Amino acid sequence: MDAAALVDLERYPIDRLDSAEGQALLARTRADLDGKALALLPGFLRQGAIDAMVAEAEPLEAGAHRRERERTSYGWMDNRGFPEGHPRRALHTLRGGSITRDMIAPGGPTARLYEWPPLVDFVRRALGHETLYPCADPWLALEFHIEDQGDRFGWHYDTNDGVVSLLLRAPDEGGAFEYVPFIRDEDDENYDEVARVFAGTSSLVQRPPMAPGTFILFRGRRSIHRVSAVGATRKPRLIALLSYDRNPGMVFPEATVRAVLNSSNEPHLGSHPT
Ligand SMILES: [Fe+2]
Repeated sequence: MDAAALVDLERYPIDRLDSAEGQALLARTRADLDGKALALLPGFLRQGAIDAMVAEAEPLEAGAHRRERERTSYGWMDNRGFPEGHPRRALHTLRGGSITRDMIAPGGPTARLYEWPPLVDFVRRALGHETLYPCADPWLALEFHIEDQGDRFGWHYDTNDGVVSLLLRAPDEGGAFEYVPFIRDEDDENYDEVARVFAGTSSLVQRPPMAPGTFILFRGRRSIHRVSAVGATRKPRLIALLSYDRNPGMVFPEATVRAVLNSSNEPHLGSHPT
């Protein structure tokens, strides 16, 4: 399947960004990222593309790397020395499966779309970067995440901004993406509000509805977020994660890769996007 056939280019003309329609799409996407840290393009994938990508992932689910661990939301910082009950010490469950790039066929629909130049260029321009490249990481450049009943991806920040994902299948219950846009900034961690988020009493938590086929571009470095626990479901939640970088040849730190491939080694993974 040709990459161009996967995307609804009538609705989202990413192959002609310099047209009036393309410029409007870029402006809307940038405004969403600036205003609420999240740009959602529902119906971005054609139904045939959703079907093809699900069909690609399903046979790989049995071999997915499973991990289950508790971690703080601040894995990139030293969280020792904080008092009991402080958000820096709170542990959240990360439990789910990952199908890594080495398992995904290079000529399949997901890998083709990931590297399709118009898609890379759209993401680059939406994020306002001079350059953008598909990551070179043999494992984490491209993944499917799978969350079955009881799985969840607890509250955390990403250490990079501009994560791209494509929701392919929503579970029957739970598994919602929840976040607080720009809850922290460079000078203020805003622990009081973070504590309310953890306690379930914050009024700032957003839960945007998402249907399969939605393109998701997210700034998660300052926006705490999670995937809530999946409830009873006939099939697991399935989402494709596409990692890009401003520099060519980017690979993830060894510890990050190891944490996905072998969950017993790294108790506080913090750098990998959901
Ligand atoms: Fe994340």
